[in-house]
Amino acid sequence: MRAPAILFLLCFLPGSAAAVDSCVTCHAAIDDSAKGPAALIKNDVHVAHGLSCADCHGGDRTSEDPELAMNKAKGFKGKPARAAIPKFCATCHSSPDYMRKYAPRQRVDQWDLYQTSVHGKRLAAGDAAVATCIDCHSVHDIRAVKDSAAPVHPLHVAETCSHCHSDAQKMAPYKIPTNQFEEYKTSVHWEALAKRGDLSAPSCASCHGNHGAKPPQVESVAAVCGSCHVLFEQLYEKSVHHAVFSGAGGGGGCMVCHSNHAVHYPSTAMLAGPKSVCSGCHDAGTAPAGAATQMAGWLDGLDTALKQSETVLSRAEKSGMEVSEAQVRLIDGRENLVKARLALHSMKPAEMQMPVDAGMAIAKATQRAGDFALREKDTRRIGLAVSVLLIGIAILAIRLLLRRMESNK
Ligand code: HEC
Ligand code: HEC
Ligand code: HEC
Ligand code: HEC
Ligand code: HEC
Ligand code: HEC
Ligand code: HEC
Ligand code: HEC
Ligand code: HEC
Repeated sequence: MRAPAILFLLCFLPGSAAAVDSCVTCHAAIDDSAKGPAALIKNDVHVAHGLSCADCHGGDRTSEDPELAMNKAKGFKGKPARAAIPKFCATCHSSPDYMRKYAPRQRVDQWDLYQTSVHGKRLAAGDAAVATCIDCHSVHDIRAVKDSAAPVHPLHVAETCSHCHSDAQKMAPYKIPTNQFEEYKTSVHWEALAKRGDLSAPSCASCHGNHGAKPPQVESVAAVCGSCHVLFEQLYEKSVHHAVFSGAGGGGGCMVCHSNHAVHYPSTAMLAGPKSVCSGCHDAGTAPAGAATQMAGWLDGLDTALKQSETVLSRAEKSGMEVSEAQVRLIDGRENLVKARLALHSMKPAEMQMPVDAGMAIAKATQRAGDFALREKDTRRIGLAVSVLLIGIAILAIRLLLRRMESNK
């Protein structure tokens, strides 16, 4: 095919970047601010896929006459009303046939799911203050999820949600808290995600779902912790608390002890002492309060014992003694501490005792190995001192002997 023929065809291919696009040309001229659609659109994922203004708004992009370009007869839809936006985006995103041509594996359930969410239900009921597609994705500079500048990129989701959820004025009519982002920023999850770049840690949408009312494979938001902390969930579900916490007015699950937004590093202070979470329900002197104190004692005891062994072994290592075998065993000891913290979630002290005992045995054995190595080092030092002394005496004796032989001559 000759070049003019290709150009001619391109003009009629929808969204072809090479074609003259009157929408872009004219809108760039009438609104040359950086926030104008024609300027913003350069980074938009739709443009990257060859789509343009008319693919969303309709109209005739080949005409430079505004009357003809933005003509209802040419399918021009204009600016969608706020309540109509989800359906507007869904014309393509809910169509498997359409989307398959661009991204065969892309999901096409965003609108369906959206309608099950609080946002979607409220919008359908006429409340325009909720999030629509463009409040989370922006408009005219919509980016792919994996684009690190996207407002829905895992590192930016919390900030995106907080534009509304941290705004006391916007949220006032609903009488729900506005401290989620503030609390979340104090959590282990935020630390892992934002400070250590661990994308497996949850942001708002991991727990709440992005489009639906709840994330997939979870029967309620309260049960979401178990989708990542699987083993904890398994033990918790078998514990006495499971039935109690999910009973009337409950649905708290892990949240009862760990909170939802402000999940902090756990410690035995949660079990015993003034900050104990157990004491809110279990008075001192009752069996569960006793169990809590016992479990705290075991965990602290094992932790202290392991730390002592570690100190002794590192002293021995620094003074040149060979203790690598004991150091490897100590790793097993620490694993038992992890297992004990996990077993705690059964709320049966007997189940926790096994890893605690095993860990203690290792702590004691490695401590002995460290002590032995340090004693050995001392013995060797004394031995060395004695032999140096003996050699010194011998040299002295030989010198005396030589001198006497010389004077005898
Ligand atoms: C020759 C200039 C010109 C062309 C060509 C043109 N527009 Fe416009 N467009 C305008 C002007 C002027 C307005 C009104 C400006 C305003 O209200 O801010 C407008 C308004 C709009 C609006 C907002 C309408 C509303 O309801 O508020 C949309 C959406 C739009 N144009 C999209 C398009 C699309 C899509 C194309 C191409 C098919 C296109 N325009 C082609 C000049 C043009
Ligand atoms: C992915 C779909 C999509 C594409 C592509 C798109 N728009 Fe829009 N546009 C929208 C939506 C949705 C709104 C409504 C925004 C709102 O309610 O704030 C809108 C609003 C507008 C408006 C109303 C004023 C404003 O800024 O809110 C204009 C004008 C407009 N678009 C022009 C354009 C032009 C020109 C292009 C191409 C350079 C374009 N749009 C590309 C979806 C799109
Ligand atoms: C409350 C915020 C929010 C709303 C409202 C929202 N999205 Fe999303 N969307 C997200 C987040 C967050 C992701 C990223 C999910 C991830 O990390 O995989 C996403 C991902 C996507 C994706 C990528 C594929 C996928 O499903 O993961 C598409 C396409 C998409 N959204 C389209 C839409 C459309 C269309 C609407 C309106 C019907 C919409 N979104 C409404 C937050 C939202
Ligand atoms: C004309 C059809 C069409 C319309 C209308 C449309 N999109 Fe898209 N969208 C696409 C295509 C095609 C892609 C590129 C394929 C892909 O990445 O899924 C895409 C990609 C996306 C992505 C990136 C998904 C990813 O890969 O991470 C998001 C987010 C998105 N669109 C949101 C929206 C929103 C929000 C609206 C409404 C304002 C909208 N789209 C309207 C066709 C459309
Ligand atoms: C444009 C503003 C806006 C944005 C952005 C927004 N929301 Fe909302 N959201 C609302 C409003 C308004 C409600 C309705 C409050 C209600 O009914 O209690 C709501 C309701 C909710 C609810 C239900 C609260 C309840 O009543 O139990 C959850 C959960 C929620 N949003 C999570 C999110 C998450 C997660 C994000 C970000 C991915 C987000 N929202 C982004 C405005 C927004
Ligand atoms: C680790 C999981 C998790 C993360 C991360 C998370 N949430 Fe929640 N959120 C929950 C749970 C669980 C509830 C309680 C819901 C229930 O009981 O059904 C909740 C409740 C809510 C509510 C209802 C009002 C309230 O405070 O009780 C809103 C709104 C909300 N979250 C928004 C957010 C926002 C915004 C973010 C991000 C800044 C976020 N959440 C991060 C798990 C999480
Ligand atoms: C999307 C996966 C995911 C979800 C959902 C999730 N977490 Fe996490 N959680 C993580 C990751 C990743 C870490 C960081 C582990 C680390 O520190 O290396 C973590 C850390 C923790 C820690 C600290 C662990 C430690 O070693 O000190 C606790 C406690 C915790 N999460 C409890 C919860 C609770 C309670 C919920 C539900 C409200 C929850 N998590 C939901 C992934 C998740
Ligand atoms: C009855 C209160 C309670 C409930 C319910 C509970 N936990 Fe815990 N959890 C604790 C205590 C106490 C610790 C701290 C043990 C320590 O470090 O001394 C802990 C520790 C943890 C740790 C850190 C383990 C480590 O190695 O540092 C994770 C992760 C965790 N819990 C997740 C969960 C998950 C997920 C759920 C729900 C399936 C849950 N917890 C339910 C009390 C609870
Ligand atoms: C929200 C209230 C609540 C909190 C917080 C709570 N529990 Fe419970 N726990 C109960 C209830 C109710 C029962 C069942 C009735 C009973 O045995 O007292 C129970 C039962 C138990 C049992 C079983 C007693 C038995 O006889 O089998 C143990 C052990 C226990 N809890 C330990 C703890 C520990 C340890 C904590 C703190 C990490 C804790 N609980 C926090 C309410 C709570």
